[in-house]
Amino acid sequence: MSQYNNLLFEVNNGIGTITLNRPKALNALNCELLTELNNLLDVILKDQSIQIVIVTGSGEKSFVAGADITEMKDMSAIEGRNWGKFGQSVFEKLESLPQPVIAAVNGFALGGGCELAMACDIRIVSEKAKFGQPEVTLGITPGFAGTQRLPRLVGKGRAKELLYTGDVIDAQEAYRIGLANKVVPAEELMPAAIALAEKIKSRAAVAVQLCKAAVNKGLNMDLESGVAYEAEVFGLCFATADQKEGMTAFVEKRKAAFTGK
Ligand code: HXC
Repeated sequence: MSQYNNLLFEVNNGIGTITLNRPKALNALNCELLTELNNLLDVILKDQSIQIVIVTGSGEKSFVAGADITEMKDMSAIEGRNWGKFGQSVFEKLESLPQPVIAAVNGFALGGGCELAMACDIRIVSEKAKFGQPEVTLGITPGFAGTQRLPRLVGKGRAKELLYTGDVIDAQEAYRIGLANKVVPAEELMPAAIALAEKIKSRAAVAVQLCKAAVNKGLNMDLESGVAYEAEVFGLCFATADQKEGMTAFVEKRKAAFTGK
């Protein structure tokens, strides 16, 4: 029996798939779900046999339709602040996992759902997906870092339009503005996410993880510090067996056999 009431988790061939599983509430994020996700991320963080993570939603209709509105309705200001901080910390943990994380967005990604998708590294989305930050229609701002990650992904002007209007956009528009990496037919969503995961998995794992760290940390630094950080991770690669193997394989005109070491 699963140890989680609101999540499914399976690992196949080094790919860990997290399925947010509250389909009756369109996978809305309640406190129990976020607590379970937080605990699961601690497990994944320590388990390097999990090389890539995919995050998706259960059911045909929704990735995540936001934070649970029924749970938030009667919150005080302090409770709201603490709920926001908790969700932010869970998404930060997801974003800073060493392993790459792919969101397979199968439907509504609204409010906290859009924020969750943005905390993932790459978003592969079904043509049925819909994105938006509709918080202002409920009298609140985004609270799980949507005001911060959205402009970083799509630029200040487009982010402000989405944030001020609460408009919901379709998959193609999300792709056009850079919120989605790729749009695929609904039935091809998981195969496409797994194919991408397999491709990334075939590369030198330490180098991929250091690319992730360099991009994430660099975005919070000035260019000079980010470039200096890159030099450090670049140097570190030369301490890996995969660097020796990758370059030797090139010189020997054969395919590299990486070990992740
Ligand atoms: C709680 C939700 C929910 C949510 C849907 N449900 N979204 N429950 N919180 N965010 C529940 C509905 O109440 C309903 O339960 C069931 O899921 C099915 O939803 P319907 O509305 O009947 O489906 P449909 O008509 O297809 O409309 C789908 C929808 C709509 C457009 C996605 O559900 C919707 O607008 N949901 C809210 C989207 C939203 O505003 N998200 C942002 C939340 S604020 P019953 O029991 O009636 O069947 C947020 C802030 C994050 O995310 C930061 C916090 C700090």
